[in-house]
Amino acid sequence: MVNIQKAAMIGCGAVGATSAFSLMQSGLFSELVLIDANQQKAEGEATDLSHGLPFGRPMKIYAGTYDDLADCYLIIITAGAAQKPDETRIDLVNKNVKIFKSIIPEIVKRNTEGILLVVSNPVDILTYVTLKLSGFPTNRVIGSGTVLDTARLKYLLGEHLQVDSRSIHAFIIGEHGDSELAVWSSANVSGVDLNHFCELRGHYNHMEAMERIYTDVRDSAYEIIEKKGATYYGIAMAVRRICESIIRNEHSILPISSLICGHYGLEDVCMGVPTVVGRNGAETVLDIPLNGLEQRKLMASADALRKVLDGIEL
Ligand code: NAI
Ligand code: 2OP
Repeated sequence: MVNIQKAAMIGCGAVGATSAFSLMQSGLFSELVLIDANQQKAEGEATDLSHGLPFGRPMKIYAGTYDDLADCYLIIITAGAAQKPDETRIDLVNKNVKIFKSIIPEIVKRNTEGILLVVSNPVDILTYVTLKLSGFPTNRVIGSGTVLDTARLKYLLGEHLQVDSRSIHAFIIGEHGDSELAVWSSANVSGVDLNHFCELRGHYNHMEAMERIYTDVRDSAYEIIEKKGATYYGIAMAVRRICESIIRNEHSILPISSLICGHYGLEDVCMGVPTVVGRNGAETVLDIPLNGLEQRKLMASADALRKVLDGIEL
């Protein structure tokens, strides 16, 4: 029997530790288990995080083993290699598939009822690999998808338009990576068409601004990794947001990655598209309206992922 107040973080590097910090502050869980191939690292992070608890809400944070996963409702996987400045996310595939082949069976031996949230890159590929290796139902294997990229888009649009980014409704969809796309055709600011809102704020050069903002979003991680070696704060907030929607059964619409079956005319690939997220994980994958160009770009993104999947032995 899984306990909705208990979660685990597998991988306690920059992303795992920062995500644990954001979860600790969220008050969503009463127990958080940290697991890492480097046991000392997990122990150090657990102790450091625990020293902050008197300023937050009571909970237990500890370095554990796979046996501690048996009753976890949510298991978050951030383990694996991260990009170096000259690498793409896809370049990580061989190393991280190998790591997932060692982690997923260990989880499944102890827990078959929880939700698996994949964050490690390439996240869409590893979500698919996790789905196949675990044999879990499709709603209970999700990836962080383009939740972070969508946040980057909203942030940049908010800055451009000098408006609260939370009032912006727009999505980045497809691969969390180089082939992702922005869905401009339905983007709006609290119901006001994006181009019209741009004009209200004194911006008329729509094509140029959209191209610049999309490129900034797509290349954000490369720029940050070049400057500071890794990205972790943005993804930590994205992880928290996904966990909130699951644990509080919010039914929020988030572009998480899960198995696409017939949506947008695509089959048998995991990638980020708007999805209703609740206590059962990925509850309903949505077919949002796309124009012809967006549909073609989404298919190209799915093709790029499928080519990588075709090269993986499971
Ligand atoms: P990191 O190198 O700081 O940490 C990785 C951790 O995984 C290390 O502590 C390592 O000991 C651990 N690990 C390796 N093999 C393991 C195994 N078999 N079992 C348990 N732990 C194991 O890397 P960082 O920066 O934390 O990134 C982690 C992953 O998250 C990378 O793949 C990165 O690309 C990805 N990432 C994904 C984002 C997203 O939006 N989905 C955003 C940022 C990073
Ligand atoms: C990010 O987008 C590297 O996937 C990571 O920040």
